[in-house]
Amino acid sequence: MTTKVTAAETAAQKEYAEKVRELNSARELPPIAHVHSFGCQQNVSDGEKIKGMLAMMGYGFSDSADGADLVLFNTCAVRENAEDRVFGNLGALKHNKKLKPDMLIGVCGCMVQQEHITERIKKSFPYVDMVFGTHVLHTLPQLIYEALTTHKRQISIPQMDGVIAEGIPLRRESKLKASIPIMYGCNNFCTYCIVPYVRGRERSREPEQILEEVRSLVAEGYKDITLLGQNVNSYGKDLDSNVDFADLLAQINDISGDFLVRFMTSHPRDASQKLFETMARCDKVAPQLHLPVQSGSSRVLKAMNRHYDREIYLDEVRRLKALIPDIVLTSDIIVGFPGETQEEFEETLSLLEEVRFDSLFTFIFSPRVGTPAAKMDDPVPMEEKKKWFQRLLDTQNRISVEKHKEYIGRILPVLVEEENPADAVNNLNCRTDGWRLVHVPGDVSLLGQRKKVKITDCSTWSLFGEFVEE
Ligand code: SAH
Ligand code: SF4
Ligand code: F3S
Repeated sequence: MTTKVTAAETAAQKEYAEKVRELNSARELPPIAHVHSFGCQQNVSDGEKIKGMLAMMGYGFSDSADGADLVLFNTCAVRENAEDRVFGNLGALKHNKKLKPDMLIGVCGCMVQQEHITERIKKSFPYVDMVFGTHVLHTLPQLIYEALTTHKRQISIPQMDGVIAEGIPLRRESKLKASIPIMYGCNNFCTYCIVPYVRGRERSREPEQILEEVRSLVAEGYKDITLLGQNVNSYGKDLDSNVDFADLLAQINDISGDFLVRFMTSHPRDASQKLFETMARCDKVAPQLHLPVQSGSSRVLKAMNRHYDREIYLDEVRRLKALIPDIVLTSDIIVGFPGETQEEFEETLSLLEEVRFDSLFTFIFSPRVGTPAAKMDDPVPMEEKKKWFQRLLDTQNRISVEKHKEYIGRILPVLVEEENPADAVNNLNCRTDGWRLVHVPGDVSLLGQRKKVKITDCSTWSLFGEFVEE
């Protein structure tokens, strides 16, 4: 059961925020918070809510934990290295706490929804003041108030299907691009994945809440909006209204203003022809799709519980490309799933050659406690998996360059997104509608504008170009 956070609960949290604000305003200088989000875009979006609530409580912000009065790690559990980084960073905070004993340290996010992790934090990191899970993010004001006034450890990790909390203030990173969660949780239980265990069941926000958020972002001048969900294609299935994801996109497309909308992630199992047709028809829906395939082997896909096979995936891609020839298509691949053979890995390589993705996110399988795949036989040694991984990268890098070369000579609309301090010549980072990165020399006064660029050169990772008159 999804719990909607009630207006009374939201009001109670506002009161706690006000009390923390009073405590903070009694200090000589406003307190400084350092919030670091370690995970996916959903996790970063939660980080924006955390910062929004902290700003309401009178906190300023710093990019560094050094000297901060509050450090919050918003964690990710999807692979072991994400968790290792958090433990490493937590270890380093011992020193900070020694220098500043009244500082607060908090750990939240997906990682702490796992019992073995919470136990480890409790035992090995006694200087952590707050540990709270993904379903109680909106209670941050209360947690901080209790931690500040009782000096007792606050641990709040309810195991539940999940909540929807509306009306949390946000502090967005950018004035140009914004993400909007349209749903939370996941019901798919891919056998390797921890997300359904730490994020709870799929639950959709009401379409009107989402439309209103898009309208106000567009009114504020935002030019690029990303709709977020672990599986956006099943948006709306849990709602009373008859709105599915394609309908939601079409309704967003009808909002007037100068903006593009994109989304992630789409599960190939539910990527419908209706969705592809809606994308093709709606001019504000960006020509971009992230469609994680995970493997090119039907046997491995079955063992992963993905509910599609190689042929279904390839057919989807063919239908999509027929409707939107210019589509920028990206994907996720896992190398070395338990029991994957050399031949099955090579099927992934041949799928890459067939689809020709624009770019990929690639991972070596990481066993996650409590998932079915963690208990499967995994005979291939890590050394071998690393070799496969390198072959995967080499194959994709070659394809990426080939695809980038096809852009040379073309004139494309771009959004001038940000300055690139690392490059004195090609000082502006621009984005095509498909979100390809183009480095362009130009004046910073162009930031935030839409311009036309002629593509002149490329590398594995990006394009280079020059502005041309409209
Ligand atoms: N909801 C999204 C993905 C969320 S996790 C989807 O279904 O596509 C992002 C990516 O991390 C996954 O697509 C997968 O490629 C990778 N991943 C998830 N669990 C993993 C694990 N245990 N080991 C390695 N990679 C994993
Ligand atoms: Fe994980 Fe699969 Fe859900 Fe994606 S769809 S979050 S990979 S369980
Ligand atoms: Fe995202 Fe990591 Fe959680 S990928 S949903 S932050 S486990």
